[in-house]
Amino acid sequence: KTIFVLNGPNLNLLGMREPAIYGSATLADVNTLCSAACERHGLKLEFRQSNHEGELVDWVHEAGRLHAQGELAAVIMNAGAYTHTSVALLDAVKGTGVPLVELHISNVHARESFRHHSYLAAAARAVMCGFGVAGYGLAIDAVAQW
Ligand code: DQA
Repeated sequence: KTIFVLNGPNLNLLGMREPAIYGSATLADVNTLCSAACERHGLKLEFRQSNHEGELVDWVHEAGRLHAQGELAAVIMNAGAYTHTSVALLDAVKGTGVPLVELHISNVHARESFRHHSYLAAAARAVMCGFGVAGYGLAIDAVAQW
């Protein structure tokens, strides 16, 4: 089965972006970490990043087609700021029925109040936040047991 790890806006800046909050690992490092975790579990990995909401919607649809064929393990999505704004991403997850892990590097609940609400959480099977980039590996380890 395949795991989609989808990263939203500004996550291409990981490593140089507010390192006190997000750490010094780059998105390439996160890709490496996810590859290793998927290899451990014999899962295939689609690791992607986009700054565009519609592209993320398209990728959820693509994952949904795999889901319909019984070939999807999960979508692990760090939707970045779209977490807090995007009804379109919520509808894409609901419309495809993909099993979703909502992921955040930081503990969004300890930050500004506008980060406390997530449109995605209502459609997520699980939520991971505050473990830094290690959360990606932890989420893959957990999905492998579903
Ligand atoms: C984030 C938290 C969001 O509030 C923020 O907009 C991001 C990153 C995180 O990984 O902690 O871009 O999703």
